[in-house]
Amino acid sequence: MNALQEPFLQPALVANYTEQAAQKVPGLADLHLMTMLLLSERAQQTAHILVVGAGGGMEIKAMAHARKEWEFTGVDPSAAMLGLARNTIEPYNHRAKMIEGTVDAAPLTLYDGATCLLTLHFLNRNERLQTLQEIRRRLKPAARLVVAHHSASGANANCWLTRSAAFADRSDIDWQKAMASATNMANRLPLLSVAEEEKLLGEAGFTEIELFYAAFSFRGWVATA
Ligand SMILES: C[S@@+](CC[C@H](N)C(=O)[O-])C[C@H]1O[C@@H](n2cnc3c(N)ncnc32)[C@H](O)[C@@H]1O
Repeated sequence: MNALQEPFLQPALVANYTEQAAQKVPGLADLHLMTMLLLSERAQQTAHILVVGAGGGMEIKAMAHARKEWEFTGVDPSAAMLGLARNTIEPYNHRAKMIEGTVDAAPLTLYDGATCLLTLHFLNRNERLQTLQEIRRRLKPAARLVVAHHSASGANANCWLTRSAAFADRSDIDWQKAMASATNMANRLPLLSVAEEEKLLGEAGFTEIELFYAAFSFRGWVATA
């Protein structure tokens, strides 16, 4: 894990994660529903889904609620975030196996679909490529991957990050604060341009790479193994 991911290791900081994520990411509940639907187009009624960066458990909870027979393997290097996930998915724990580690820790089973939400923006290009390749290795042919995270949207990237920061802090719209937060994010997160994101998915072996979600600085893609 790099320094960017350290907050996820601290139990006190992860305690409010699910509440804060819902406030920071526009339409997060709908993003989860869209993810479930995109995976469902290729996954059968009984499917096993690999969830990379499963900490917090929000996407597993949403998918488990909608698809009563799906099972999940979630991986996350943060024990604190995995603990929170177990609480979040409490009614569905019997259908989810949670493993502490990165995708490398996931068994080389062939899964029916995979997600990696709000996670890849913490990884540099090499780490992302390796993560995407390892996800693809674990997917059945034609299975779907859904990813979503902050991306650098062209010349106006900082402006879009500022809007995301203002959205997160909606109770008190302070543009100076939002701009400072955006600059901090731009300096710290290894963001890739939309074109680079799509190129990387292709390099990892995915095809049919299509953008399905755009919300301020967030972008989401669906791709096929
Ligand atoms: C912002 S949280 C997103 C959690 C969840 N996917 C969601 O959408 O709410 C990012 C998560 O990625 C995890 N993470 C960091 N580096 C990772 C890696 N290399 N592989 C998998 N997960 C990682 C962190 O521990 C953290 O739980």
